[in-house]
Amino acid sequence: MGCNDAASCFCFWNKNLKQKLEKTHCLQEVQEVQRSQGSQGDGKEHGKEIGKEMVVNPWEVSGKVDYQKLVEHFGAGLISPDLLDRLHRVILQTGRVKELHPWLRRGIFFSHRDLHEICRLKEMGKPFYLYTGRGPSSEAMHLGHLLPFMFTKWLQDAFDVPLVIQMTDDEKFLWKGEYDSEDGDNLEHFRFLAMENAKDIIACGFDKSKTFIFSDCDYLGQMYPNVLRIWKSVTYNVAKSTFGFEGSSNIGKSAFPAIQMAPSFPSSFKVPLKEMENLACLIPCAIDQDPYFRITRNIAHKLVPKDHPLKGKPSLLFCKFFPPLQGTQGKMSSSDSNSAVFLTDSPQEIEKKIKRYAFSGGCETEEEQRVKGADLEVDVPFQWLTFFLEDDEKLQQIADDYSRGSGEFWGTGKVKECLIRVLQSLIKKHQEGHLGSCCVSSESSNFCKKLVLFGARAAK
Ligand code: TYM
Repeated sequence: MGCNDAASCFCFWNKNLKQKLEKTHCLQEVQEVQRSQGSQGDGKEHGKEIGKEMVVNPWEVSGKVDYQKLVEHFGAGLISPDLLDRLHRVILQTGRVKELHPWLRRGIFFSHRDLHEICRLKEMGKPFYLYTGRGPSSEAMHLGHLLPFMFTKWLQDAFDVPLVIQMTDDEKFLWKGEYDSEDGDNLEHFRFLAMENAKDIIACGFDKSKTFIFSDCDYLGQMYPNVLRIWKSVTYNVAKSTFGFEGSSNIGKSAFPAIQMAPSFPSSFKVPLKEMENLACLIPCAIDQDPYFRITRNIAHKLVPKDHPLKGKPSLLFCKFFPPLQGTQGKMSSSDSNSAVFLTDSPQEIEKKIKRYAFSGGCETEEEQRVKGADLEVDVPFQWLTFFLEDDEKLQQIADDYSRGSGEFWGTGKVKECLIRVLQSLIKKHQEGHLGSCCVSSESSNFCKKLVLFGARAAK
């Protein structure tokens, strides 16, 4: 996938479309705000509690997440057994992978918007593209961040489709950046983190010829016409009620959501997506990112040609949160190094973290454990194995033994040992891939500065 044809990126697909910009009047605006807030429209999602004890938004996840309630609140759908069967059939037809990804079978990717539309397109032999992203807030990514990328890699393998990956260095600067009267600001720091994180992302092994990874600071100019269209289409009331902006928020924060929305439209990638403006878009991510795309879907028709198969609405596949070591509430955080396993951790660090910090649902004494068994729902080592132990039979054996307190995996120590081996091997493979992608370079062209994918594993 290339990005160096300067002429083609300035072909405006919408030249012939009438610019129908709706006049907002009160009723319409109330409806818009309600739609953007999800099915219930009670305006409580941004930074506040949904129900009694959970907070889920793009910047905070805390409390015990009730996924059923969350999906209802956001107005997304659960992946039903029928939809899963249909997806399975569609995937088998491609002949590229043999079975559904364990994260689909195990309900880790559990919720969606318009996934049946993606199945329908594939049944008709029509193409789509994948879009996902990362906000580079720390040099090392943790296992939770990796989930959507590993899954996206599998989707790309299964469907053989183009992929765009957005690195929101701008977002992280706006939310976490600092200004010092001596040294100035630290925008460059976030651009550097974007490059570092890109290496970890590339190490997942995407198809180099079909993957475009970009930093907003570098590429925004190409998306700017679509960003403008989104700014024009979304009212401040909608943005404020969805994201919770306040008078004291810097104005960049209010402007940013449009920048995360813009890659949902193929016309933001005229060269990488080769002017295929009717391509549908599928976005794999954790469910915390839904607020961006809920708004996107409401205004999508304004950014695509009339015969776009989904009227421009991106389809979404949501995963649950990979829990922190200390317990199954909230999500893993980069700012607490003991809550997470990072892609840079050594085998010894992994072992130490799991042994010392992973919350156990087992009993205090061996005697008690042998009688009562462990509570798998709250047991972090077991929960982590449901994400990363691929072998279904072994996982079942661990569940049976551990919950009964008998057999090979009767106690926490045994289960932790198994998890440590699984993670050490996963991280080792990833670190080898990261080394292979270390020659990621920022290269100027007449079109844009871009991240170019290099490296043995990345090229696979
Ligand atoms: P960021 O960097 O917070 O997270 C990157 C991706 O990882 C998901 N994620 C998790 N998934 C499972 N368990 C966790 N504990 C966990 N923590 C984070 C996020 O949902 C995300 O998919 N603003 C975005 C960057 C972005 C983006 C996108 C994400 C730009 N465009 C399109 C998804 C789709 C961000 O800061 O993600």
